[in-house]
Amino acid sequence: MDPKWTKGNELKYLKQILENSDEARKQSFTDKLESEFKKKYGVKFAIALNSGASGLHAAMHAVGVKPGDEVITSPFSVLWDASIAIIMGAKVKFADIKYGTHNIDPEKIEEQITEKTKAIIPVSYHGLPCDIDEIVAIGKKHNIPVIEDNAQTMLGSYKGRYVGTDTDIAMFSFERTKHITCHEGGILLTNNEGLAEKARKFAGGGFKNLTSDKSKLAAIIPEEFQSPDFIRHDALGLNYRIPEFCAAVALAQFEMVEEKVKIRRDIAKLYDEVFSNYNSFSPQEVPEGYGHSYFTYSVKSPFSKLAEWKSFYKNHVSNGGDTFYAMMATVYNEGIMRELGYSDEYHGKCPITEEVQPTCMLFKTNYRSIEEAEKNISVLKDSLKKFL
Ligand SMILES: Cc1ncc(COP(=O)(O)O)c(C=O)c1O
Repeated sequence: MDPKWTKGNELKYLKQILENSDEARKQSFTDKLESEFKKKYGVKFAIALNSGASGLHAAMHAVGVKPGDEVITSPFSVLWDASIAIIMGAKVKFADIKYGTHNIDPEKIEEQITEKTKAIIPVSYHGLPCDIDEIVAIGKKHNIPVIEDNAQTMLGSYKGRYVGTDTDIAMFSFERTKHITCHEGGILLTNNEGLAEKARKFAGGGFKNLTSDKSKLAAIIPEEFQSPDFIRHDALGLNYRIPEFCAAVALAQFEMVEEKVKIRRDIAKLYDEVFSNYNSFSPQEVPEGYGHSYFTYSVKSPFSKLAEWKSFYKNHVSNGGDTFYAMMATVYNEGIMRELGYSDEYHGKCPITEEVQPTCMLFKTNYRSIEEAEKNISVLKDSLKKFL
């Protein structure tokens, strides 16, 4: 089995569930996972879920996104945020990114605000925190909640605070490739009890006994809930609960979070060294006081033409190099977004995203050891020398 899944207490905790042991019965792994997140991040409420996307849906529901509303997000991202908003009947407004950090530009957010804006959703892409203070200030000024998409940003920091602690509600993902993973899972963090309760109920079937800080139904006596007149639901909801098995694995992984983030940061330093010799490549800029968690190492390359990008990729791989990713297509140019008219509407309106996206190269930071990373990065060094 891949050591990624078995290095810590993963198997021990899974066995405790399968054996229905005292440890597993005393407190659910979902509760334990939520408690550990609350402690580490210093927030009041944590709601573990079966995916980051479920977290975005529950958060948008909690802040009251409804048909006809608008939500503002980054076009330099994955489709999830836009997709969920559109499914909820909202319209997506895209605010361009900044050169250098490739994260959403607070000034551009403000330009997109209308009376219909119901949420601002900054995405801390590749693991780099957004300009939190400016975005929070805009949210406060216009009375619009901020939902952070920190799917890629575990232990990212901003001016000495962890990201995910300053906005109205923040989502993190435990999907297979993330810093902390249980294959599929996620968590919402918030200090707002009302939002926590709404998100919890929405994600947990709308049961009235669910509360902001209880992942399972509060204990009620059988005489009550077995009675024909017992009323169970005071909200509408879906089932986005995290399975106990996934919570157990996520907890074991979270116990090693410092180590897991550190190795990605150490690997990023190796890439920094390589690219410091090439002025034509611009790694994602990390402003003073921002702590990047390096989900990936992103570089704006000099290859603005698709054929040039592909040629470097092909040459590097034939040179024995590891594969790497391009940045996802600009959200409003995704297939379904074209069909929905977003591509026509936004073409040319987010010029920085349109310029940067096709050139980006996303290098892996999830090697199992520094030695493995060094081996691969030395091939990259060689490829840059040979093929530029
Ligand atoms: C930026 C971003 N937002 C949202 C998601 C969705 O998270 P999940 O896959 O856990 O549903 C992802 C991907 O995993 C992501 O990278």
